[in-house]
Amino acid sequence: MTHKYIEENKDKFLNELFEFIKIQSVSADLTFKDEVLKAAIFLENNLKKIGADNVKIFPTDGHPIVYGEKIIRNDLPTILVYGHYDVQPADPYELWDSDPFTPVIKNTDIHPEGAIFARGACDDKGQMFMHLKAFEAMYSSGELSCNVKFMFEGEEEVGSSNLEKFVRENTSLLKADVVLVSDTGIINNETPSICVGLRGLSYVEVEVTGPNRDLHSGLYGGAVGNPINVLSKMIASLHNSDGSINIPDFYEDVVQVSQSDRNELAKAPFNLNEYKSDLEIRDVFGEKGYSTNERNSIRPSLDVNGIWGGYTGEGAKTVLPSKAYAKISMRLVPNQSSSTITHLFEKHFKSIAPDYVKIKVTPHHGGEGVVIPTDFPAFLAAKNAMETTFGKVPIPVRSGGSIPIVPMFEEVLGLKTILLGFGLDSDVIHSPNEHFGLFNFYKGIETIPHFYKNYASLMSK
Ligand code: BES
Ligand code: MN
Ligand code: MN
Repeated sequence: MTHKYIEENKDKFLNELFEFIKIQSVSADLTFKDEVLKAAIFLENNLKKIGADNVKIFPTDGHPIVYGEKIIRNDLPTILVYGHYDVQPADPYELWDSDPFTPVIKNTDIHPEGAIFARGACDDKGQMFMHLKAFEAMYSSGELSCNVKFMFEGEEEVGSSNLEKFVRENTSLLKADVVLVSDTGIINNETPSICVGLRGLSYVEVEVTGPNRDLHSGLYGGAVGNPINVLSKMIASLHNSDGSINIPDFYEDVVQVSQSDRNELAKAPFNLNEYKSDLEIRDVFGEKGYSTNERNSIRPSLDVNGIWGGYTGEGAKTVLPSKAYAKISMRLVPNQSSSTITHLFEKHFKSIAPDYVKIKVTPHHGGEGVVIPTDFPAFLAAKNAMETTFGKVPIPVRSGGSIPIVPMFEEVLGLKTILLGFGLDSDVIHSPNEHFGLFNFYKGIETIPHFYKNYASLMSK
């Protein structure tokens, strides 16, 4: 019945998703504040329409949280579905082949049956919407087998700080047995996988100040320290020649993954040549002794996300700038603490600065990493659900991305999370021309009800 409902409503689901995606819910930019609210109201209305109860918009100091639930029987397990309706800024606009907030379907080599091109199509509107439509199909077919609570936030892309507060203050409202999230990916459309790890994040902005004002680079050059020269050298020193990170005690809390776990993770199909040719790079970079897949999942990393200062306009202006800036992210592995790493970074960065500059380090949002066990009922329910709909057993994969609220669910609510994502790395989330395969959208809607069914039956034993 559920399956039939999905088949009959495919176009309706897609049209609704288009309406949702058209709302420009960019959380980082406050000129879009009303749009973010519009997206929350869209969800409120959709939740009511599909039969959820107690649907409510909770205002926060930032963007609102949308809640709704369906409690059918007290003896059934309760699934807490989390997703985020905010999206990354769409710029640079000129690199999009079509308008980022006007979804269109286009075929690609990887998505021959079509993909939805728009900001948020994959991260996370398309993926969170699968849960609403799967619920709609189950509930209207009389086949809902678990209680469900929906919680959607509008601030994931800016650090989830108000959701953290909300979770801490609403532990009884959010009482559940497991959290279910679709905000990650699979290896490819023939190779299902389940994300069993996320990295943590420490994100800092650094400001290097040299002289008290911009100077003539002829009159002063060679005699006064240039903050951009200094910053470049300091950043360059943050990696050792073996690719490891050169900050004292940085690796102190890193847990070495066992060889048997490494062997298990190495089973995920991966082709280094295709990886390189896709990115048009002659070689990869990384920590000695680790594979590419390990370097971006079970090992920490440090990257400059942006760097600026001085004159960057047209032509040549001779200037020895007063200031230089960079935004630096460190991806962390489980057991490393985001605040400890931020502290170690700040201490080290100040210690290596020459006397002719001053350093300011400003921490931004961060979060902890997480590893998800593969031997508890919810994981088995997810694994079996994917096996049913893909015809293949999904491979456990640790991802390099971060979802800081996931470890919070464990810390505050005592709940494990199932990361049942359906995106592909090639869907270019956060970048121009983000897209989400129609195959993936419908596969998600089809798989989620199997999870509910499997989970209810495993929990009733
Ligand atoms: N959904 C992503 C994270 C992700 C994507 C994890 C693919 C695994 C696979 C999420 O929306 C995101 O972008 N997270 C940010 C961190 C956040 C604090 C801004 C990230 O990882 O950069
Ligand atoms: Mn996301
Ligand atoms: Mn994101």
